[in-house]
Amino acid sequence: MNTDFTTLLRACRSFLILTLLAIGFATICAAPAKAKDAGLVWGEDYFPNYELKAHTGETLNFFDDVIKDKVVAINFIFTSCKDVCPMETARMVSVYQILGDRVGSDVYFYSITIDPENDSVDVLRDYAQRFGVNGANWKFLTGDKEEIDIIRDKFGLFGDPEEEKDLSNHNINLMLGNQSTGQWVRRSPFENPYILANQLGTWLHGFKQVSALSNRNYESAPQLRQISDGEMMFRDRCSSCHVINGGLGPGRNARPLGPDLYGVTERRDGAWLRRWLAEPDKMIESGDPIAVALSSAWEVVMPNFRLDSGEIDSLIHYMESESERLRQRYASATSESGPRQPDHSEHHHGKH
Ligand code: HEC
Repeated sequence: MNTDFTTLLRACRSFLILTLLAIGFATICAAPAKAKDAGLVWGEDYFPNYELKAHTGETLNFFDDVIKDKVVAINFIFTSCKDVCPMETARMVSVYQILGDRVGSDVYFYSITIDPENDSVDVLRDYAQRFGVNGANWKFLTGDKEEIDIIRDKFGLFGDPEEEKDLSNHNINLMLGNQSTGQWVRRSPFENPYILANQLGTWLHGFKQVSALSNRNYESAPQLRQISDGEMMFRDRCSSCHVINGGLGPGRNARPLGPDLYGVTERRDGAWLRRWLAEPDKMIESGDPIAVALSSAWEVVMPNFRLDSGEIDSLIHYMESESERLRQRYASATSESGPRQPDHSEHHHGKH
């Protein structure tokens, strides 16, 4: 692994700021077009065929290899991003996991860097690894800066050129599209991952595989019960990276991006936990030993969400009550051995 890059990334962790609430929501940017008209409106003449390099080392042409005849999710990122990119990528990972095997067989994911001068193939490969992204199904792409700007512009995702000089102003939308039918929509990557996955998997395919996806959805849907503010907030902002499970409930198979939060309110001191939720970046920066140990055990960063104390109360209450709910529900099954501790060994590589 490239050590300089790792150092740089880790330095950037401390600047992580997230302002989720400011996000404007999805707008349709193209009226659905009939398949036979697609070539005219959104075909070869509209999209350039520039050469891009994938983190896997391949060279791909934008129109022919990336989008032609495919259903795709495309977002624009940069790896030194101080704000929303890690959260965005984590949310894409959730959508990717929900779609499961279908990614790559009929749905393709692409993350294109808007900072190609710094995001070389090697840097992108390292970034993809952090998020556990498999290169066959999801490609991180770099290329010529001007050409990438033109691609963004084609999607209506390029803002005012002056503002764009500061990369953190970049447009955080996600494009979902079906090139052959000419259907493209712009979505916020912070939307519910099931809705995004549904849109990719079913709407874009004309409901061809609706049953396969809705079964999966149904299975993973939470049970009906009163949903608190804390739980809502947890689902929106935390669930792309965290589960509350403790080896008790039916877990997600995919590699988690952050620690299992089962029983976290017991294993951490209350004041420590409150401070962590309020300013994880500053805690790591100031050398808090637990924060530093956690940060070296995990590949991605815990964003600073700028939570206020009411939000922190709701989240702590939810983490506590959800752990308790699981404990009671599975009490009989685990009375002999006690809850399994989550196994961290498999994501312990890299960062030391
Ligand atoms: C982008 C992924 C990501 C998101 C989103 C995220 N976290 Fe984290 N979280 C992490 C990682 C990674 C760690 C481990 C510390 C580190 O490396 O920064 C962590 C650590 C924690 C810890 C400490 C765990 C322990 O064992 O002490 C708590 C508590 C926590 N997160 C709560 C939350 C809550 C609540 C939210 C939503 C408001 C949230 N996280 C959102 C990635 C994330």
